[in-house]
Amino acid sequence: MATTTSVKHLGEFTGEEVLLEGWVYNSRSSGKVGFLMLRDGTGIVQCVLSRADVGEELFAAFKELTQETSITVWGVVKEDSRAPGGYEIIAGGFTVHQLALDYPITPKEHGTAFLMDHRHLWLRSRRQHAIMLVRHEIIRATRDFLDDNDFILVDTPIITPNACEGTSTLFGLDYFGRQAYLTQSGQLYNEANARAHKRVYCFGPTFRAEKSKTRRHLTEFWMVEPEMAYCDLEGDMAWAEQLVAYIVSRVLETSGQQLEVLERDTGKLEQVKAPFPRLSYTEAVESLQAAGVDMEWGGDFGGGDETIISEQYDQPLIVHRFPAAIKAFYMKQDPDDQRLALGMDILAPEGYGEIVGGGQREEDLEVLMERLLAEGLSAKEYEWYLDLRRYGSVPCAGFGMGIERVVAWICGLPHVRETIAFPRLLNRLEP
Ligand code: 4AD
Ligand code: MG
Repeated sequence: MATTTSVKHLGEFTGEEVLLEGWVYNSRSSGKVGFLMLRDGTGIVQCVLSRADVGEELFAAFKELTQETSITVWGVVKEDSRAPGGYEIIAGGFTVHQLALDYPITPKEHGTAFLMDHRHLWLRSRRQHAIMLVRHEIIRATRDFLDDNDFILVDTPIITPNACEGTSTLFGLDYFGRQAYLTQSGQLYNEANARAHKRVYCFGPTFRAEKSKTRRHLTEFWMVEPEMAYCDLEGDMAWAEQLVAYIVSRVLETSGQQLEVLERDTGKLEQVKAPFPRLSYTEAVESLQAAGVDMEWGGDFGGGDETIISEQYDQPLIVHRFPAAIKAFYMKQDPDDQRLALGMDILAPEGYGEIVGGGQREEDLEVLMERLLAEGLSAKEYEWYLDLRRYGSVPCAGFGMGIERVVAWICGLPHVRETIAFPRLLNRLEP
């Protein structure tokens, strides 16, 4: 009786008969022998079928197989150093579940719009498969790092009554007659959770109605947000750079095969080691001005500016202490310079831009209230948040890391649309 297994585990069954369940990646035949590349989600293996072994009828059926036909194949596992995964199958037979119709995605080149319209099928391609595996590993590494450092996962709500990151990018929804919004960030709730558990993180989808049509912006993206009580800006930067460095080292350790499929230059990733270089916002503006960019102190960086600043480094770069006026109300004022907020961003190298944003939170009730009102927010709606400064206020800091941005950087992708199975973009809601 053949054992049902998967391509990934063939090495455990050398010389034995196995059964594989998958899809036809590719097939061809000569007069007497057929070659089937079987894709089963865990890998691709070549199955060799001889007419003499399987008989006329089955061999004739083999010749009719179309790309992406769902199929079960059984046969004996043979070690073969020339085969891609090191093994091939000497097939004894197969059954077809459904003979696929003419598959729209062929090995020829297709345009981006076509591929995006067929995203539900495109996901099966070697490259997209590799990206999803790296994404999975990045998420696993993130959780392992935080879990092993005494961070507790506490989920925060998706449906919220008010804004975290300013009101301009909220997706509104009707909540039984009340105005509600999809969350932009779990941070405010995280701050409450950090006072219950000290170190926490939330990890979920976040939403921004950003009218940005860039290679870095999604309207729905996944963000991991660690938040630490008794932590200042310095501590915050240290946690963030350690997390990023750990993720890169884990992906290098586990996902070499995928990075090869993606033709990623891993030399660049191997250089990533904490601590990362640090630059104040003011120094960053000066370096932009020196590079001939028309930029005044006080403005926010655009994607192009981030690229220019970070291209001067092989490592991710931490930019800190931004003008308070361009940052959210909750950021702590710099005690050394009232114009500044104790925020920080990590910019990825190779022009990938901001992957992390965070900072120290304002712990003083009066200052926080002032900032909130200055932003035109209502103190009443944030009453619960202000309570965190009334009952055991402490220095508190945290950050958010956008998973898709990190995937794009580590995989070396030109656009975030390939970093998530079904991207939501300004101009794309389907499939
Ligand atoms: O810098 P942001 O807006 O920071 C916050 O939301 C904080 N409340 C996080 C915190 O301190 N807990 O977003 C954090 C990160 C960015 O650095 C970026 O990686 C990602 O989220 N991000 C996006 N990713 C894809 N598409 C978008 N539209 C994104 N907006 C932010
Ligand atoms: Mg930011």
